[in-house]
Amino acid sequence: MQALSNTIQAEDNSYRPPHINYQAPKGFDLMDIKAFEAVGQPHEYFHKLREAAPVSWWQPPETVDVAGFWSLTRYEDVKKCDLNAKDFSSQEGGILMGYSEKSSGPKKLRAAALDSLINMDQPFHIPLRMAHRPFFTPDFVAELQLRVQAEVDRLLDNIEAKAAKNDGKVDMVTNFSEWLPLFTLCEMLGIDKKDRPKIVRWMHYLEMAQYITSDPDQNISPLFVAKFLWNIRQMFKFGRKILADRRKNPRNDLLTVIATAEVDGAPLDETYLDGSWLLIIFAGNDTTRNSLSGTMRLLTQFPEQKQMLLDEPALMSKLVPEALRMVSPVMYMRRTAKVEAEFSGQKVMPGEKVVMWYGAANRDPEVFDNPDQMDIHRANAGDHLAFGTGPHVCLGQRIAIMQLETAYKQILDRFPNISWTGNQRHAPSNFVHAISHLEVDLGQ
Ligand code: HEM
Repeated sequence: MQALSNTIQAEDNSYRPPHINYQAPKGFDLMDIKAFEAVGQPHEYFHKLREAAPVSWWQPPETVDVAGFWSLTRYEDVKKCDLNAKDFSSQEGGILMGYSEKSSGPKKLRAAALDSLINMDQPFHIPLRMAHRPFFTPDFVAELQLRVQAEVDRLLDNIEAKAAKNDGKVDMVTNFSEWLPLFTLCEMLGIDKKDRPKIVRWMHYLEMAQYITSDPDQNISPLFVAKFLWNIRQMFKFGRKILADRRKNPRNDLLTVIATAEVDGAPLDETYLDGSWLLIIFAGNDTTRNSLSGTMRLLTQFPEQKQMLLDEPALMSKLVPEALRMVSPVMYMRRTAKVEAEFSGQKVMPGEKVVMWYGAANRDPEVFDNPDQMDIHRANAGDHLAFGTGPHVCLGQRIAIMQLETAYKQILDRFPNISWTGNQRHAPSNFVHAISHLEVDLGQ
């Protein structure tokens, strides 16, 4: 299979669809990552969009070298698109908006963002996905949970000690949320303990990648750019080294699966090894991390829901889907239409890009009554689309749910008065709902 990054065409920013039914309301630019940094998920704007322009066209300015796209904000439209991988390709242009062969940033990072499972269509996608399966079965997850429980305890001990020196307050992200998913993923991948802190550092830089590469004229310090480039280089160097080692010395771990997987009858070449490495460390880390922090915020915003959980801990399994619905850690996936299609009365033509906004779908009042209210008794919370749906549905969802449930149980058991202090920061990204700082008071 030819590397997708070698086949990709420059995106045409001048294209305008022949039919545009709805006029998007003003007030928020879905490509402005600084606007996402300010508000996190733009729920108010999503509500306006869903009502006034459920399928709206974003036209790039002449200076921005990316394709325009349709934004889907209704639940049924997002689901219809995600389920139909035959007519809505992940491979033609990839799942990220704003990919351009002319865009700035490290070449290897741009190529790796394309050359992986998540950007594949059939016939390549399913066999590669299947190869990963042994590390996502219920039995494997149950065994892993024992190790996760012990790690949660250890992290909570550290948090308690830190908070004791700071008036009970501590940053949830850097002391808990970024470490638990890293631990779990590294246990699956078979990465030694001494190498794990490096991955946390690379995650920080990856989260800033969109900011650094989207606008070369920004006033970013050259030192920061140099550090970014160095870290990205180190990340790929490490990935190649460890995957090469697994080819020579296979073990019973997920890295060996990736290193020895075949696509189109051949082992993954170096570009696909880079891409697979990038996908697994990003997908397995940043998503669960932001769910953990986002849920601590929700439990403070909806204290009566927290009280219900404290009164009846058996309700914890209901917290996970409802919190995922409300947080929606992955904001979107992009597709390219291969055929003429229609969403909410809007015609979409072959070749046009379609962006599925999961956070908007998850708060569609047509499906979720009173969607901005957290309700752990919500009967259909499990219908959320935070993990996507269809053939690309999150491969790690069982792992994620297990970690979230384990963490919430142990956190509330140990710190029933934990609350968010109101201090938080988001990273500038419209791809992940990236909470980079969230201060909590342990309430002890
Ligand atoms: C709360 C945590 C998580 C969320 C919200 C999340 C969300 C998503 C979403 C939205 C997709 C794309 C689905 C689609 O296109 O329909 C996806 C794909 C994927 N996720 Fe997750 N994810 C999470 C955790 C994880 C974890 C822990 C792992 C690995 C250990 C993981 C591995 C993957 C992989 C490999 C894919 C690509 C699957 C494919 O293309 O076939 N994710 N995830």
